[in-house]
Amino acid sequence: MRKKPTVFTYVLCAALVGCVIGVFILAPKTVEAYRGYVTERDATPTPTALTASVLQVTEDPNNTPAPTAMYLRVGSTGDEVKRLQTRLKELGFYAGDVDGQYGQGTAAAVKLFQSQHGLTADGLAGTETLGDLYSDAAQTYIPTPTPSPTPSLLSKGDKGDAVRALQQRLKDLGYYTGNVDGDFGGATQEAVRLFQSQNSMDVDGISGGATLTAIFASDAPSVAITPTPDPSTLPLLVNKDHPVAEGYQAQDLVVLRNVLPASLVYVKGSDIQGNREAAAALQEMFEAAKADGITGWQISAGYRSYAYQQQLFDDQVAAFVSQGKSKTAAISATRLTIADPGTSEHHTGLAFDITVADTIFKGTKQQIWMNKNCWDYGFIIRYPEGKEKITGYVAECWHIRYVGVQHSTVMRDHDWCLEEYIEAMTKQ
Ligand code: DAL
Ligand code: ZN
Repeated sequence: MRKKPTVFTYVLCAALVGCVIGVFILAPKTVEAYRGYVTERDATPTPTALTASVLQVTEDPNNTPAPTAMYLRVGSTGDEVKRLQTRLKELGFYAGDVDGQYGQGTAAAVKLFQSQHGLTADGLAGTETLGDLYSDAAQTYIPTPTPSPTPSLLSKGDKGDAVRALQQRLKDLGYYTGNVDGDFGGATQEAVRLFQSQNSMDVDGISGGATLTAIFASDAPSVAITPTPDPSTLPLLVNKDHPVAEGYQAQDLVVLRNVLPASLVYVKGSDIQGNREAAAALQEMFEAAKADGITGWQISAGYRSYAYQQQLFDDQVAAFVSQGKSKTAAISATRLTIADPGTSEHHTGLAFDITVADTIFKGTKQQIWMNKNCWDYGFIIRYPEGKEKITGYVAECWHIRYVGVQHSTVMRDHDWCLEEYIEAMTKQ
């Protein structure tokens, strides 16, 4: 006769079932969790003594180091930058000098490292980037493959995937800062020229066989712009503190109506002049705008003589006086919008006031387009909103200044006005 199961038997059975569940279900989870822990532990960068020294080289406007300010960037200098450059070089991302100067070349190398490691490619070496860079998990540089099939020649006007690959490669190396849009325009040409001139090749802006091969070579050097280039290569600074020199003459002036097609832009005065190279850049910009469906442009001002600037200034002072301001108050108010003769960028022939006839320019589709795109054609918005204290002028969304794409694109990327850019590029 079978014995009736006792309470003890039930408890024993329940315990056995529990063990089986434990072994077959929970144990693998535990192993998995352990594996995850090991992976995470191994991927976590080894803490270094970096943090304190990073804080010393990082600018902090309030002098109170905050965790978000712990990064190296363009303009940083010192031993930590040397250490960063050495490490980037060791991994094959950087081919420039280990000089402790965080210039565009170092920024380009940091971007390359970041994009290869799944980090935001902003060229700023923050805690996360530095952690990955100094960890054992940091990979060596894997060059971008040559586009296939590779055309033997790419030049201005070409479009398509091969142009896109070329732009991306030049961008990775720091020569190109425009959009990777597959359209070989002026900015791409400028980047090719920059690459050629820095690598002792014939400078023609055409990406022919030798240039293409050199650009896609695994050891192609990053751009060598340091924060201290030859000051004579920087744009001319004309502002309240930097009047044009005595006897200064604008170079290479052309009458805009003679060189710019009326179908592209209306030049308000038949005698408005501008610098020839800047006028060509204007044409290129308006053609690009037209291709984007934006037309209806007007040029209200270009080159101005000293006498004409004086007249504009005096007229505005007189207008303020007639509104009841004292002479002194009228002059101060005028100085916020009109430059004293001798201190206007319009004397250079490189500055233009771009408008839409009979319309307030701000907020028009033309103004929005120009604000976004003028940089790719070598222009800057010279008096931007938020920089009034630096420029000394109320924001002017219509006044653009030609500086060349090698400068304008860097200013756009760093949100620098001309004064800030020149300071960053000349400080030791
Ligand atoms: N409106 C600008 C500042 C000039 O007069 O040059
Ligand atoms: Zn102007």
